[in-house]
Amino acid sequence: MKVDGRHFRSIWLEPDGWSVGAIDQRRLPHEFVIARLETADAAADAIRTMLVRGAPLIGATAAYGMALAVRDDCSDAGIDRAYQLLIAARPTAINLKWALDEMMRAIMPAPPSERAGIAYARAAEIAEQDVAINREIGQHGLALIEAIAASKPPGDAINILTHCNAGWLATVDWGTATAPIYLAHDRGLKIHVWVDETRPRNQGASLTAWELGHHGVPHTVIADNTGGHLMQHAMVDLAIVGTDRVTANGDVCNKIGTYLKALAAYDNGVPFYVALPSPTLDFSIDDGIRQIPIEQRGADEVATMTGRTADGRIETVRVVPAGSPVANYAFDVTPARLVTGLITERGVLQPDRAALASAFPDRA
Ligand code: MRU
Repeated sequence: MKVDGRHFRSIWLEPDGWSVGAIDQRRLPHEFVIARLETADAAADAIRTMLVRGAPLIGATAAYGMALAVRDDCSDAGIDRAYQLLIAARPTAINLKWALDEMMRAIMPAPPSERAGIAYARAAEIAEQDVAINREIGQHGLALIEAIAASKPPGDAINILTHCNAGWLATVDWGTATAPIYLAHDRGLKIHVWVDETRPRNQGASLTAWELGHHGVPHTVIADNTGGHLMQHAMVDLAIVGTDRVTANGDVCNKIGTYLKALAAYDNGVPFYVALPSPTLDFSIDDGIRQIPIEQRGADEVATMTGRTADGRIETVRVVPAGSPVANYAFDVTPARLVTGLITERGVLQPDRAALASAFPDRA
């Protein structure tokens, strides 16, 4: 996607042919800073500290992290160490394990002297595949938006609510939840996006709003608890969110607060769609609430807020009394029964085992 007229992806191989560039998402929307990753340790650190984040981008970063590791040490033991390091970086997005397993399958059968070349090639394929998948998701989601547009009076905006950032920054390009939005906007449909701020890290306010603004998509940032009120007043036509893991029976894990939006959507008859690339499917489990590991992050994310002051300084301030304990659950699970449909690269599916297994027999 474009940033001030220049095309960017969220991650890329640098012209030197071995180091990896990425947008430092911790600095947005205040500063646009490029980071250079040169080791598997740096890649793991980038995922852990959320320099990069979003399930598909976590996977792509881990793939490049493996390539960096193999470049440094192509022995079985070295590769195994890198796998363990990277897989421990964050627990919830299954794309991390998917990408690392794909890398192992490509690298390990090869003689050590060929492993680095194979690793870089497979990492690049994983990144390209993500872009292609998101374009397909965009096309299938666009058809949904067009159908809703056709049911509204001509000239009325289509109001879409989204949570967190499942945009191009969270993937390699296009985004999952945002791909249909960008395509619809580019086709001339009148789109307006309600952007949940998404405390505690504000990925909606800081990243989704930044993306949509750069693409010229009309949007409004709302406090996290606003969605239910808007739905009660017919101000949301549909919700589209991303996901970090979808179980075999269609339960959806996504950023904390997604479940409450799904409940409100269900109560108000608002279609609630989840956009997902197939690497986000986890056919090994079928009870999202009990089986998906929910990341718990540091108290400071809840206890503080960071922003730019009127005179241009970036400051972090505490918003919770010093002695108050804080809990920070980063994700929640929306049961399949609250999901209207899963927008995948192979079409819009019912959130159930039969539909998922028949669309993705290669994964099931
Ligand atoms: O903690 P984050 O910022 O990595 O969480 C991101 C999300 O919850 C996204 O919605 C999800 O990863 C899907 S990204 C296409």
